[in-house]
Amino acid sequence: MPLATTTKMFEKAYKGGYAVGAFNVNNMEVIQGVLNAVAEKKAPCILQISKGALDYAGMIYLRKIVEAGLEEHSDLELSVHLDHGPDFELAKQCVDNPIFTSVMIDCSHLPLEENIALTKQVVEYAHAGGKVVEAELGRLGGIEEHVQVSERDAFLTDPDEAERFVAETNVDSLAVAIGTSHGAYKFKETPVLAMDLIQELTKRLDGLPLVMHGSSSVPQELVQLCNKYGGNLPNAMGVPEDMIAEAAQYGICKVNIDTDIRLAVTAKLREFFHLKPEVFDYRKYLGQVRESIKEMVMHKIDVLGCGGMAEG
Ligand code: G3H
Ligand code: 13P
Ligand code: ZN
Repeated sequence: MPLATTTKMFEKAYKGGYAVGAFNVNNMEVIQGVLNAVAEKKAPCILQISKGALDYAGMIYLRKIVEAGLEEHSDLELSVHLDHGPDFELAKQCVDNPIFTSVMIDCSHLPLEENIALTKQVVEYAHAGGKVVEAELGRLGGIEEHVQVSERDAFLTDPDEAERFVAETNVDSLAVAIGTSHGAYKFKETPVLAMDLIQELTKRLDGLPLVMHGSSSVPQELVQLCNKYGGNLPNAMGVPEDMIAEAAQYGICKVNIDTDIRLAVTAKLREFFHLKPEVFDYRKYLGQVRESIKEMVMHKIDVLGCGGMAEG
């Protein structure tokens, strides 16, 4: 089964008002859990691999596991994406690798001019190789209800800058700062997303696919399970699921999820080790981890509205 390009995936998602899940993967059980879920739900899917994942598992292992997944499931609509590419060299390496269909270059921490220049360089190289690019503009970070608009707008994606950025870089999708942040502690108080900004960006960027990083919902049942069995995750909070579904209707086509996978793995392992201290056959608990990831991803697909949307 060949890999799919996100261009078509996003076009369909944009028109249909749903989003495609982009799941961070680092090992075989997680890849299997995600792929088993999307195969059953007939959902398009993006597996994303970070520099950290490459350092952990190695390019060759990850590539071969993904290839095994494609061979195992005959009807996936699957893309593989470099997440948070830190520099031109790694982006180039992934563009040159047949397993990757797209790369992200993340220089959102750099001044605008430098972000534009590096993104442009990656886009030119990737397009010449038939691959597509995601870049990022703005600073991810939770926003609170009571902050002044000027304070809020200081780190969210600026629509004027976004227009210029897209025109000058020719990037294929844009990760935007709309109030989410990475990890398990996204909000101190009531969660807020800048829904008005998403709509404005969609309008100003003429329907360019927007990407939401930091989209884990940090399910409280997983947090409670971790904490019940010795974990220490006080006040962990994510993006409420109804907000993710709403954002998808406004032009967010790709929703990035890593933390919820980590929580599902950790909760299951903590519970298992506590309840079955006598077991040391790792297939028993890693098998359960794989199942709980599958369950979690199937639920995400319902939230994102992408079930049944895979091109078959
Ligand atoms: O946004 C970052 C992703 O959660 C990947 O994390 O760099 O630790 O693999 P990582
Ligand atoms: P979470 O930490 O919310 O899962 O976000 C992951 C992400 O944005 C990966 O790029
Ligand atoms: Zn991210």
